[in-house]
Amino acid sequence: MTKQLSNPFVISGYAGSDNFCDRDPETEKILKSLKNGRNLTLISPRRMGKSGLIQHVFAQSELKDSSRIYADILPTNNLEGLTNVLSNAWIRQSFGSGKRKLSKVLDVLKSFHPVIRIDPFTGLPEVEISARSDVEKSDNLENLFYRIGKEEKPVVIAIDEFQQVLDYPEENIEALLRSSVQQLPMVRFIFSGSRMHLMNTMFTQSKRPFYQSTRMLFLDPIDPVIYSRFITGKFKSGKRTIEPEAVGWLLDWTRGHTYYVQYICNWLYSEGYTRISPAVVSEVSRDILLEMQPVFSQYRRLLAPRQFELLRAIAREGTVKSVLSGSFILAHSLGTPSSVRTSLMAMIEKDMIREFPEGYLVDDVFFSRWLKE
Ligand SMILES: Nc1ncnc2c1ncn2[C@@H]1O[C@H](COP(=O)(O)OP(=O)(O)O)[C@@H](O)[C@H]1O
Ligand SMILES: [Mg+2]
Repeated sequence: MTKQLSNPFVISGYAGSDNFCDRDPETEKILKSLKNGRNLTLISPRRMGKSGLIQHVFAQSELKDSSRIYADILPTNNLEGLTNVLSNAWIRQSFGSGKRKLSKVLDVLKSFHPVIRIDPFTGLPEVEISARSDVEKSDNLENLFYRIGKEEKPVVIAIDEFQQVLDYPEENIEALLRSSVQQLPMVRFIFSGSRMHLMNTMFTQSKRPFYQSTRMLFLDPIDPVIYSRFITGKFKSGKRTIEPEAVGWLLDWTRGHTYYVQYICNWLYSEGYTRISPAVVSEVSRDILLEMQPVFSQYRRLLAPRQFELLRAIAREGTVKSVLSGSFILAHSLGTPSSVRTSLMAMIEKDMIREFPEGYLVDDVFFSRWLKE
C-alpha cells in the first residue's frame, strides 16, 4: 500500500519518486558513475535538493542489491563524531536488510566497545564509540570503513555536508579520509556539500588530498518547464487549478530554488485555494515573509550594520555584477570600497551572499525578498 500524502509538496526529507520532481539526468549521471566505479561530489547551494537527490538515487532499482549508507555529518564536530554518525547510519541501513544483518553489524560494532542505547523514537540500537587518544580515533574510523567495506554486497556511502570535516580539530583529516577511501576500491562514495567555496577548495585545489579524485556534479535549479508541469499536475490531482502565469510568477520570485518553490506550493495547497492566480501567489508570499519576520529581524541583530546594509543593497538590485564598483557603492551609500570588501568577504564566508557567473546575490531567497521590501 502506498501512503497517500495529504500535501504533495514535500518540504522536508524525501517522500518517494511520486512527489519528487525530475532530476532524471542527475540521477542517471550518479548511477552511471557509481556503476563505473567513480566516486562523486555533489555541490549546490543549500536547499537546492542534494539530500533529496541522494535519497532518490538510493531508491532506484539499480541499487536495490547494494548497501546504501547515508550519513549527514552536519551535527559532527570531530573524528569521533564522524565515526559515530557513520556507525549509526550503518545500523539503520542494516536494519532495513533484516534482523540477521542487523545483528551481524552490531557484532562488528561491539568490537569498538561502544556504549549502546535504544533510540526512543526509532526503537533502533544506537552506538557511541569513544576513543582515548587521537591515534585510536583515526584507527577507529579506518577500521570502521574497512569493516563496512567487507560487506558481501556492493556498498555506496553518501556523506552529506562533507565540508563539515574542515571544522574538525584533528590535523590531516582530509588525508586520513582520502587514504581510507582509497583503500576501499569496492565501496563507492558520494560526497555532498552546501558550503560551496569549501567544497570547491577541497576537490579542486591541486594540493588537497581529494583533488580531482571524484566526478563533480553541480546541482542547478530544476528546469522551469519541467517544474511548471510538475506543479500544475500536482494541483490538478488535488482538484485545484493554478494558472500558468501564477506558476511563472512563483518560479521567478523564488529563482526556481527548490525549497522555496516547494514551500510556497505547500502553503498554497494547504490553504485550500481552488483557483490560484498570480495575485493569490503574491499574497501568499507576503504572508510567508510576514511569518518569517521574527527570524529576519534576528539576523539583523546578529549582523554588523555594514554587513546588513550590504545585504540589503544587493537584495534591492537582485543580482550585482560588481559589488566593489563605485556606482553600486555610491548608489547605496555603503562607505569605502575596502570596508565593503571586508563585509563582502565575511558574508560570502557565511554563505549569506553567493557568487554566480551573473553576479552576487543574497543566498536565502525569502530573506532576500524581505530585505528588498
Ligand atoms: N526534485 C525535487 N522535487 C520536489 N521536492 C524536492 C526536490 N528536491 C528537493 N526537494 C525538497 O526541497 C527541499 C530542499 O531539498 P534538500 O534535498 O534538503 O536540499 P539540500 O540538501 O541541497 O539542502 C526539501 O524539503 C526537499 O524535500
Ligand atoms: Mg541537505
